[in-house]
Amino acid sequence: MPTSSQVRKFPETRYMGSKHKLLPEIRSVLSGFACETAIDLFAGSGIVGYMMKAEGRRVLSNDHMVLSSTAARALIENDSEILPPDAARGLLEPSGPVDPFVQRTFGGLYFPDAVNRRIDIVRANIKSMENPVLRAIAVTALVRACLKKRPRGIFTYVGDRYDDGRRDLRISFEEQFLDAVDRINRAVFGNGKKNQARHGDALDCPVPSGPSLVYIDPPYYSPLSDNSYVRRYHFVEGLARDWQGVEIEMHTLTRKFRSYPTPFSTKKGAAVAFDRLFGRFRECVLVVSYASNARPTLREMVDLMKKYKRHVEVVPVDYRYCFGNRGQGVEKNRNTVQEYLFVGF
Ligand SMILES: C[S@@+](CC[C@H](N)C(=O)[O-])C[C@H]1O[C@@H](n2cnc3c(N)ncnc32)[C@H](O)[C@@H]1O
Repeated sequence: MPTSSQVRKFPETRYMGSKHKLLPEIRSVLSGFACETAIDLFAGSGIVGYMMKAEGRRVLSNDHMVLSSTAARALIENDSEILPPDAARGLLEPSGPVDPFVQRTFGGLYFPDAVNRRIDIVRANIKSMENPVLRAIAVTALVRACLKKRPRGIFTYVGDRYDDGRRDLRISFEEQFLDAVDRINRAVFGNGKKNQARHGDALDCPVPSGPSLVYIDPPYYSPLSDNSYVRRYHFVEGLARDWQGVEIEMHTLTRKFRSYPTPFSTKKGAAVAFDRLFGRFRECVLVVSYASNARPTLREMVDLMKKYKRHVEVVPVDYRYCFGNRGQGVEKNRNTVQEYLFVGF
């Protein structure tokens, strides 16, 4: 099933674990279930929830990263508001006192001083925006501009050793920000339903009352890959929450803050967490993304799902990707991972 023209408007980032390449397969599996309500429980970039919205469902997009729930507020909950280009340009210019937090805390780490100064200006202006939806658009654009200006789009290292001169890095920060606002504006649409963005733990997410579908795509434990979202994205997650409620570990080179606890990406806690999750949403159609290198094993996952669902189907999805951040050469470390969708109904 090809993606619709609406879905192609989604402002994609290279968010770790994004399912944008698997959307046609996911869409085809979901289309077998007519439920009006759908939850994207581990939304990440938000693209699966956005696709479900484009399909006309009433969507709840959930994630425990603020950058994810903020993007969902801008693109999924929001059905009509846009941030006008003039207002976006205005956000790049000082309009009052500017707290130099980013300049002071991250100077010399990720971006040149001039960019850090501009980020602080945008932060200050965003704080005085009254409309929460427009604020969500501005924050999402700021996050996107920082991801685009960062070689590899990650914050696990300092300096610019991976700068390969690609176009995204050559474009100025200001242009990236305005381009991001424009892309987000163009991706805003309504589907006649009341869609919602939620920031919180998947295990506390409210269970819908009528027939519904839950798409589950957690970070799996794998001995071969690093799946800490906060470690990778702490700088942009910090921006999205303005570092409220987190404590920067000043002794670390990257000035990160502590990862949010989640049982799904741990070897020990994952099976219990899936059991709780499947039990909680037992009345819903469950669709789970799973990769062959993950834990629990495929067999264990099927058995867990069978505790709560009469029918469990495993749909293999042909997809290859490369993982390798343990210092081995890329070629040596190119592995084929089989992706699956588990469907419980
Ligand atoms: C594999 S990614 C999801 C990718 C997403 N489907 C996409 O296409 O972009 C997993 C997401 O789960 C989130 N997450 C991890 N543990 C969570 C929890 N306990 N509750 C809610 N979200 C969680 C992470 O922040 C991350 O965004």
